[in-house]
Amino acid sequence: MADHLIELRDITKRYGSIEALAGVEFHVDAGEVVGLVGDNGAGKSTLIKILAGAVRPSSGEIIIRGRPVSKWNAARARAAGIETVFQDRALAVQQSIVRNIFMGSELAGPFGWLNVKRELAEADRLMREIGFTSKLFTPRSIVGQLSGGERQGVAMARAIHKRADLIILDEPTTALSLAETAKVFHFVRHVRARGCSVVFIDHNIHHVFDIADRVVVLDRGRIVLEAERSELTTVEELIRFMEQVAHPVRPGGRRTLE
Ligand SMILES: Nc1ncnc2c1ncn2[C@@H]1O[C@H](COP(=O)(O)OP(=O)(O)OP(=O)(O)O)[C@@H](O)[C@H]1O
Ligand SMILES: [Mg+2]
Repeated sequence: MADHLIELRDITKRYGSIEALAGVEFHVDAGEVVGLVGDNGAGKSTLIKILAGAVRPSSGEIIIRGRPVSKWNAARARAAGIETVFQDRALAVQQSIVRNIFMGSELAGPFGWLNVKRELAEADRLMREIGFTSKLFTPRSIVGQLSGGERQGVAMARAIHKRADLIILDEPTTALSLAETAKVFHFVRHVRARGCSVVFIDHNIHHVFDIADRVVVLDRGRIVLEAERSELTTVEELIRFMEQVAHPVRPGGRRTLE
């Protein structure tokens, strides 16, 4: 079997007496979309911050493409092709789309000048590739004028430009309308079609059911369900399971869908 793109083994994260994560086993394979769900405080953000190298686990192992890594941090995560879109902090809203895409990785022309023309062309190509259909916006449009879903698209375009193999999205659809959510998922499908993996957190189980190839449910720091989307026949099945988790029969036990 091919190595996982990234794998977490027996990860625990403590904040003082709070155990945000306990014995978590998690992996992402190439080209798959993993949906992470669970109640407030379940440990979802902590899990992706560990993937992104933003938070160091208290114990456990991180394995990248089959090789254990030590001193995992944000710079190493980026070097390994992992781009994270944190909520709110994702984009510079007063800046244009093209500036946001190239922020920190400007294309240099002769004599070190920015190659504005090349950047505009590349931004335009990326926007079209990812499925920006609106004729209203050009690479020079200010991000603050875009809708929430389109902003997520710009963040994903930037990740593609940086040749990400894995894009992590923390609640990309929170506070978005139905139409905006559909845009975000449209972008996610584009990203997956080019072989890139996505991990996203969503409070809405229907969203996860719609788009994820694999569903991972966290409950109070533990993974209580991991299911291939193909194993789930209806969203109600997943909802029922989540309700059971809220009143667990076997606290902390990992279950499978019967
Ligand atoms: N920096 C921190 N310091 C102390 N405790 C923290 C810190 N970050 C997270 N926690 C705690 O760890 C637990 C898990 O938090 P986390 O943010 O991962 O949950 P979450 O599943 O993302 O929740 P939400 O759905 O509300 O975003 C919570 O009890 C939280 O209070
Ligand atoms: Mg969170």
